[in-house]
Amino acid sequence: MNLDAYRTRVAVTGGAGFIGSNLLLYLVPLYSEYLFVNIDCLTYAANLANLSSIESRDNYRFEKVDVRNAAELTACFDKYRINAVIHLAAETHVDRSIDGPAEFIQTNIVGTFNLLERAVSVAKENPGFRFHHVSTDEVYGSLGETGTFSEQSPFGPNSPYAASKAAADHLVRSYHKTYGLNTVTTNCSNNFGSLQFPEKLIPLMIRNATERQPLPVFGDGLNVRDWLYVEDHCRAIDVVFHKGEAGRTYNVGGGNEVTNIDLVESICRIMDQMLDGDRHEELIRFVEDRPGHDRRYAIDSSRIRDELGWLPKYSFEAALRATVEWYLDNDTWLESCISGDYRKYYERMYADRLSGEK
Ligand code: NAD
Ligand code: TYD
Repeated sequence: MNLDAYRTRVAVTGGAGFIGSNLLLYLVPLYSEYLFVNIDCLTYAANLANLSSIESRDNYRFEKVDVRNAAELTACFDKYRINAVIHLAAETHVDRSIDGPAEFIQTNIVGTFNLLERAVSVAKENPGFRFHHVSTDEVYGSLGETGTFSEQSPFGPNSPYAASKAAADHLVRSYHKTYGLNTVTTNCSNNFGSLQFPEKLIPLMIRNATERQPLPVFGDGLNVRDWLYVEDHCRAIDVVFHKGEAGRTYNVGGGNEVTNIDLVESICRIMDQMLDGDRHEELIRFVEDRPGHDRRYAIDSSRIRDELGWLPKYSFEAALRATVEWYLDNDTWLESCISGDYRKYYERMYADRLSGEK
């Protein structure tokens, strides 16, 4: 291929996962003058079929590369003369990080380190090399009844997942300060929307409710998350990648604070309206709490709003309804996630979770 036809050649890591797929579906048609190279090692959470509508586009390529493998990364960066990175590849599920943190350390910390090393090396000949690190609000820990996380909030991660992301954020910061790498970091709240793996709350509840399986709510169900529709996150990444100040971090949140139980009940009500049959709320079960379960997240996103003009476009209620509808229309996609080795893990995990019914 003629690489010189593309002035920006972006490696998007983790592009076959939930946010990565949504991001590529958004960016690839929008920036035909950029080449997007999706770098993903295809873990249980990946699904290349998500990208079928863009896979034959000239400005899109997929490479099965593991960010833990520095040699594979070097070969891929050389092959496409990569001069920008949007880094999403990660192990992302808190419950799995509690069961087995080792992969989280390797992918989220060592993988980020490998990418930073590659970026610094390539940036010597490409001074503008941009490194956008996609991170989470979970690095800040847990809030009480009031307050929000700002970019100045101290880090206080409580799960191995959050700690591994916090370590990666610190590495990114240090590569800007020490080596002058042109980095930006976004710390985003809980995302929801189409193509999310059904280990996370919203697609898990929709799938279980469809199957008339129990809906396991941890603890008292009063933990609060600040939900953001994934398309709004993709627009935020676009804005920060292009306009964010080097070395700066940006919090991204939808301002939609909801308790888990209210959210699960809303999903049940939407499903009652969309499907015939018994009320879905009857399936809710309160189960033993997650260890180290953060009580509340809430994001102050005034920096990205005021400095870069980003605003979420979607209302929470409308986006939640559209999301439920998408999963009901795509039940084969949902079921295809729970296959192979993952099915064994899933069945064991849910048996454990429900054995802790209160
Ligand atoms: P996901 O679990 O759906 O997808 C992760 C992707 O990374 C998968 O395609 C997987 O195959 C790939 N991957 C994992 N390990 C890899 C490795 N070693 N090498 C190459 N590829 C690898 O995750 P997601 O929900 O789309 O999250 C993407 C990013 O956004 C993560 O960095 C996550 O921390 C961050 N984030 C997620 C949320 C959320 O609510 N989902 C919120 C804020 C930030
Ligand atoms: P999750 O989607 O795992 O995201 P995170 O832990 O990164 O916030 O969980 C969202 C919230 O839902 C969190 O407070 C844990 C809770 N939860 C349940 O109550 N039951 C479940 O089965 C799951 C997966 C999550």
